[in-house]
Amino acid sequence: MRIYKHYKNENQMTLYNGNCLNLLKEIPDEAVDLIVTSPPYCMKKAYEDPSDDINTFKNLHNEIFEEIYRILKPGGSVCWQTGYHVTDCSIIPLDYLIYEIFTSQNHQLKYPFILRNRIIWTFGHGLNSTQRFSGRHETILWFTKGKEYIFNLDEVRIPQKYPGKRHYKGPNKGKLSGNPLGKNPSDVWEIPNVKAHHVEKTGHPCQFPVVIPQRLIRALTPKNGLVLDPFSGSGTTALASFIEERRFVGAEIIDDYYEISVNRIKAAINGEIKIREDKPVVEPDLKASVAKLPDEFRKAREIAYEKEEKE
Ligand SMILES: C[S@@+](CC[C@H](N)C(=O)[O-])C[C@H]1O[C@@H](n2cnc3c(N)ncnc32)[C@H](O)[C@@H]1O
Repeated sequence: MRIYKHYKNENQMTLYNGNCLNLLKEIPDEAVDLIVTSPPYCMKKAYEDPSDDINTFKNLHNEIFEEIYRILKPGGSVCWQTGYHVTDCSIIPLDYLIYEIFTSQNHQLKYPFILRNRIIWTFGHGLNSTQRFSGRHETILWFTKGKEYIFNLDEVRIPQKYPGKRHYKGPNKGKLSGNPLGKNPSDVWEIPNVKAHHVEKTGHPCQFPVVIPQRLIRALTPKNGLVLDPFSGSGTTALASFIEERRFVGAEIIDDYYEISVNRIKAAINGEIKIREDKPVVEPDLKASVAKLPDEFRKAREIAYEKEEKE
């Protein structure tokens, strides 16, 4: 499989090294089945201009919306993954702004943008805050362009905790109550984030795990459909599209990250890529030594409780 630098409909894989606003102009009307992305949050990351702020975020999204609407097929989906912007210790939920921008034109559109899910992506690790509760989730807004859309639920079912559960009353009493293919994964996805020791970690500072675009691609696109990631970073959505046999087009503006994405796809083509399977997060082994409360913590707690009692 060849990796192309410029978009053509018949390309299986297009990785564009530049501004996505230029790439989008190369894509014809109503060509794309699904857009999955995580845009820059304008939080002074290595790949952002230090002067970028919340207005930069809003302006970028206002600018990109028109092109996104134009190139998306009626019935196609958009999945926008974001977290929070933080200014002066005050947090702004970015999906709130995206919802406003992506639905603000609905009254004049033939196919309005309809929000189908606000998926909570939750993960166990991250920075520990001392001034507020530690952040352990981000969100994915799933919109469809118009009322008709694809949703292949059977492609993304996950194992039930208790598959042997049966109806205990009513006409189906005694029959198995679940679906033999597994259960709906719900709108809360517990998936480890890509930290230093994650099998998918590359040199990109803000990757999302492959399983996020992978689930969305399986559920929301036909085989060989076209997937777009305008902010493709290390090429995670490209990789998921390759694995799921969909066509892909994406843009990355920073050369080093672009190279990472090209190398990841080359490795995937050669069968040398490792990804974390879509499997439930392991419950802690309560017998493991690290699961036991250390004496130091026990003593610290006793001192803290004693102090509390005296006060
Ligand atoms: C949050 S990261 C995406 C990471 C990606 N989901 C992954 O798993 O690697 C956003 C990316 O968008 C890129 N970027 C920012 N502005 C861009 C633009 N106008 N066009 C294309 N890429 C852009 C940044 O360099 C960064 O790599």
